[in-house]
Amino acid sequence: MTKFKLGLIVGSNRRDSINRALAQALEKLGADKFNASIIRIDDLPLYNQDLEAALPEPVVRFKSHITDVDALLFVTPEHSRSIPAVLKSAIDWGARPWGQNSWTGKLAAVTGTSPGAIGTAVAQQHLRSVLGDMGVLVMGGEAYITFQPELVDANNNITDESVRKFLKALLDQLAALTAKLTGQIAPRAAA
Ligand SMILES: Cc1cc2nc3c(=O)[nH]c(=O)nc-3n(C[C@H](O)[C@H](O)[C@H](O)COP(=O)(O)O)c2cc1C
Repeated sequence: MTKFKLGLIVGSNRRDSINRALAQALEKLGADKFNASIIRIDDLPLYNQDLEAALPEPVVRFKSHITDVDALLFVTPEHSRSIPAVLKSAIDWGARPWGQNSWTGKLAAVTGTSPGAIGTAVAQQHLRSVLGDMGVLVMGGEAYITFQPELVDANNNITDESVRKFLKALLDQLAALTAKLTGQIAPRAAA
């Protein structure tokens, strides 16, 4: 059965990003229902309206990748109690040029991890607000993940069973919503 196309957007351009590690684990965890791919933001130029006249190639690729997927999953750090600048800049590119908003009507879920006790809660709230304004249908619920060393192992497995079950439920809920919105039948888990 056809799987849904999921685009993972990691709100970090750091080489050893813990959020990219979590995103890669989510890609594996959701493989029964999604064909997931990471929608790169780390090679996008900082948003500049002057560049809209001739969109840089990475921006064109970014916008077309958003258009291509059935659902989005944001996995973001928190910077200074908000969204990292690199993610906000990418969201601005997705929304522009005027009349070419790539976000409109897309379904998205949000999660993220940080070593802090509230695990990106504030950044996720800000992100929900921005995405809602962009016309994204943001799935409800809360998924604030406090990062622990070895949370994700070298094979992209989430080692903590309760975190793994929690995030699997989030992916299953996103798949069910994707099915409703696209009118497709949700892929069944392998027996
Ligand atoms: C500029 C900056 C601001 C940060 N602000 C916060 C914050 O507000 N809340 C938080 O939990 N962690 C904060 N951190 C720590 C990040 O959670 C930590 O660096 C984490 O590894 C970032 O995720 P990444 O590895 O995916 O880039 C901040 C880090 C940086 C570099």
